Amino acid sequence: MHQKNTVILGTGGTIAGQSVSASDNIGYTAAQVGAAELIAAIPALATSSHLLVEQLAQIDSKDMTFAVWVNLAERVRYFLSRDDVCGIVITHGTDTLEETAYFLQAVLNPVKPVVLTCAMRPATSLVPDGVQNIMDALTVARHTNARGVVAVCAGVVHSALDVQKVHTYQLNAFSSGDCGPVAYVEENALRTLRDWPSQHQLRTLSATDSIAVLAKALSDETWPSVEIVMSYAGANGMLVGALCKADVQGIVVAATGNGTIHQELEAALLKARSQGIEVVRASRCVNGRVLPKLGEFLTDSNGLSPVKARVELMLRLMLLPSAVQA
Ligand code: SIN
Repeated sequence: MHQKNTVILGTGGTIAGQSVSASDNIGYTAAQVGAAELIAAIPALATSSHLLVEQLAQIDSKDMTFAVWVNLAERVRYFLSRDDVCGIVITHGTDTLEETAYFLQAVLNPVKPVVLTCAMRPATSLVPDGVQNIMDALTVARHTNARGVVAVCAGVVHSALDVQKVHTYQLNAFSSGDCGPVAYVEENALRTLRDWPSQHQLRTLSATDSIAVLAKALSDETWPSVEIVMSYAGANGMLVGALCKADVQGIVVAATGNGTIHQELEAALLKARSQGIEVVRASRCVNGRVLPKLGEFLTDSNGLSPVKARVELMLRLMLLPSAVQA
């Protein structure tokens, strides 16, 4: 059978980073090496005729913008629609990878695999991790059982809904929390650990809503303004008051434990909600989910971390025409 193409979309990150000294794994500049150059340096891939490489952005992912997301969603949608393409790999910085993964999953809910990969060490490192991560990501993108948006790092495959960066330095920097990873990549083969999440399980917006949200995102409208506040010892309503004055449309609160919020912050959030601002409660705990109790007033994030709950809320607000400022 004719081998299908795999697409590699470069967006920057440490995987494309350069440092002056090969022994410096932290004092580097992210997003310096082009995706084509990264691939050309991998002997197993340099002469592959089934790889399509495109540079979509060249940024440190801490500086991720909605414009890059929109561009990415558009190109991913285009390549997925092609019969000659079996899957897509996106090289990305680790810092906001989980947000991009969640966004793409929500708006595209793809059948084919879309694999985000990254590195914790720059390309110039004495022992870089990016090369193996790219090879592993390609294994997943070409696998017949793989589907949906996943992240691959240090040989571990995480679903877009569960993945979270949990380490500042180690190569295996991501976790799927309570859900556990979907699979491991071992010597170009997948060892699947649990049922691969189905398109139905991965759907966060209805099919009609994801089409509508993507259409909105692709248009030039400003995205809804949603900010995150955290509950902690001594928290108060000052930041929420400032956000209300700034006319935000949504606030996600990173609550303590099982969704508890300092009483002063909670009072401010309830006031904000009474003024028409959407408020969603997530937990600042890395594992577990908020289990709603009877008599609670704030919507919970359905297990999403604060940053993913923010993406979800922005997308949902896009569905309300009045919530998006022209
Ligand atoms: C980034 O997120 O772009 C820089 C950090 C990294 O990739 O590890």
